[in-house]
Amino acid sequence: MNPNFTTLKIEQQESIAFLTLNRPKRLNALSGVCLRELAEAAHWFNQQKHIKIVIVRGEGRTFSAGADIHDFPNNPTETETWIERRDKGQIGFRMTEAIGNMHAITIAQVHGFAIGGAFLLMLACDFRMAAEGTFFSIPEVDLGIPLSWGGIPKLVSEIGPARTKELVMTCRRFDAAEAKDLGLLNQVVKKEELAKHCLDFAQNLAEKPIVPLIMTKEQVNAVAKNIGAAYVGSAEGDMLQTVLKDPESKAAATAYMAGITKKSSLA
Ligand code: COA
Repeated sequence: MNPNFTTLKIEQQESIAFLTLNRPKRLNALSGVCLRELAEAAHWFNQQKHIKIVIVRGEGRTFSAGADIHDFPNNPTETETWIERRDKGQIGFRMTEAIGNMHAITIAQVHGFAIGGAFLLMLACDFRMAAEGTFFSIPEVDLGIPLSWGGIPKLVSEIGPARTKELVMTCRRFDAAEAKDLGLLNQVVKKEELAKHCLDFAQNLAEKPIVPLIMTKEQVNAVAKNIGAAYVGSAEGDMLQTVLKDPESKAAATAYMAGITKKSSLA
């Protein structure tokens, strides 16, 4: 039986499963609940030995608008202790680690946009397929915070230091064609062909023996992670606490948030 989540949907088709971000009214924004559920789902999948491939996708018109801005650590409540705020600052890292370390082979099926944390969720997947017209951005610096969730070591290992700095510091949008040129996407296809394309790709992999697939995944990940070997993911919560005390960063966050409709989180 599939587990019940409030922000996610899990479906199975023999050895292929679908993990769907399911907050379409919030453009599948990654709330704290959603991040915890994604990590729980990853651990649950690891117990389902018959599932070889997991397709990660978004319900509705987009993959995801990234971290839920209403859950931002910029909004610490009076009652939260330092340890609670620190923990809040680490849940994104724990999510990308959990997804990246899943035994199953993961395919991100991306349409609409993948912003900030959603872009990192996509990067945590083994394969990334996007629809033409999809766009990406990493707006954290404009939000007054450094990119976290393990994004820096991941990006440096995927595209190198100079391009990482460019995308992270400028916060500019880039489209699927550029993302593919950079090596961040495997394939870009027409929007109406994306779901079938991902399923065909999954079915082809599912016919292969799972043990060498998993071994390949683990070996590639181990080599790629060498670049970030000195990175301390748990320090991200501390970094966020520090930067939130910087007046210029706080002003940037306020200005950014003002540009987006403020509504309370649905989950
Ligand atoms: N967190 C929470 N809610 C979000 C959200 C986010 N990251 N992004 C969008 N939403 C909500 C909006 O508040 C809006 O809610 P409402 O209909 O109740 O007002 C709804 O989703 C639709 O968003 P809207 O802005 O109307 O859609 P759009 O197509 O015009 O714009 C975006 C889409 C993604 C360009 C725009 O929503 C945006 O810039 N979002 C913020 C992205 C971001 O900075 N994420 C943080 C990453 S670290």
